[in-house]
Amino acid sequence: MDASPTLSRAHTTPVRYIDGILCLDGLPLDQVVAGVGTPAYVYSLDAMAANLVRVQQAFAPIGGSVSYSVKANSNQAVLARLAALGAGFDVVSGGELSRVLDVGADPARTSFAGVGKTDEELLLAVRHGVLVNVESADELDALQRTAAAMGRRVRVGLRINPAVTVATLAPMQTGSARAKFGVPTDEARELVDAFVAGRYPDLEPVGVHMHVGSQVPEPGGMVRATEVLLDVLEYGQQAGLAGFRRLDIGGGFPIDHGGESVPGPEEFAAALAPLLRGRDDLELFLEPGRSIAGPAGVLVARVLYRKHRPGRRMLVLDTGMHHFIRPALYRTSVHRILPVREAPSAGPTEVVGPVCESTDTFSEDAQLPDLVPGDLVAFLDAGAYGMVMASNYNTNRRPPEIAVEGGSHRVVRPREEWRDLYASEG
Ligand SMILES: Cc1ncc(COP(=O)(O)O)c(C=O)c1O
Repeated sequence: MDASPTLSRAHTTPVRYIDGILCLDGLPLDQVVAGVGTPAYVYSLDAMAANLVRVQQAFAPIGGSVSYSVKANSNQAVLARLAALGAGFDVVSGGELSRVLDVGADPARTSFAGVGKTDEELLLAVRHGVLVNVESADELDALQRTAAAMGRRVRVGLRINPAVTVATLAPMQTGSARAKFGVPTDEARELVDAFVAGRYPDLEPVGVHMHVGSQVPEPGGMVRATEVLLDVLEYGQQAGLAGFRRLDIGGGFPIDHGGESVPGPEEFAAALAPLLRGRDDLELFLEPGRSIAGPAGVLVARVLYRKHRPGRRMLVLDTGMHHFIRPALYRTSVHRILPVREAPSAGPTEVVGPVCESTDTFSEDAQLPDLVPGDLVAFLDAGAYGMVMASNYNTNRRPPEIAVEGGSHRVVRPREEWRDLYASEG
């Protein structure tokens, strides 16, 4: 059997050509999607599991616990598999919390992030004993009201804006001073003082939280931001907050989209270790999403038409920005597009979707063979921020999701029906 080398190296990726056909976990993708048609997301749950275990093992020496960031890929099959491996979860909506509860995850090991939690969401979190990472003084007041009304004591983390800019795409930066996330450190100290003064009698401050961005290219920014958080923890402990020792540094570990070298979780753990040496009093948490799910999934699509423009080759696919918005949202074509049937490139090709928006362009220069209508292509590293960001724009159906596990595959979310998209309207 002729197996070409794996196509990405920094994390476990299950995608490779075998005998000229692109396979995921050794299963030919044309056969995997044959039953449901295209477009379809296909995930290797085994690769996601391996990526989770890798982060767990990388951070075990410094006592880090992993809470998978549900927003990256929230399919119930994914959550169930990661829960079975001991992952905690970080959620950002009532819907995500509901998902996590439904797979039987431990609510006590679930955290709730986000700048705009509604009363309904806070109520759900309080009812289930979920830790809430709070982002503003107003949110603390709202949470205090909810906790008091329900007669419950709620564990609270303070999301800090560390004013640290990491060198990732601007829309993926979340720790800079301008970002809407978290509270600046001086406000965090005021909130600590308010806790000490007894302003939030039903809330139990357990520590601090941050997330500096996604695709963080090197550990330096995360280390600097962690130092900022440690200062706030120190302030709280000095002020007398017993139990103020949770250090949640968020997610953001990068994936290698093809060729470039990115640091793995081991390098982040090694860079953070000196800060945490001798600090057995602290509880460290990580919230990776992309690095666990991203490289483990592909989006398989079909060529509908060729278009001929002077000096340009263009392919129209049966998928677009409504199914996979990252290229349009971030104006990036980092996601490699490969033919499912291996063939040499015939030169740069513009690859577009069917949506009535000019931004519905995946790439202007994908290296693809001369494909014809009916041929299949696969977008790599589509396991994170793919299906979760899909929409029904133009009253299109979202793709089905297929999970590959232990060498066989199953549909874990069927394709929507057109009628279901509007059945409850009118
Ligand atoms: C609070 C929080 N934690 C974790 C993550 C996961 O980040 P990543 O998928 O880059 O690991 C995000 C992503 O936006 C986030 O906002």
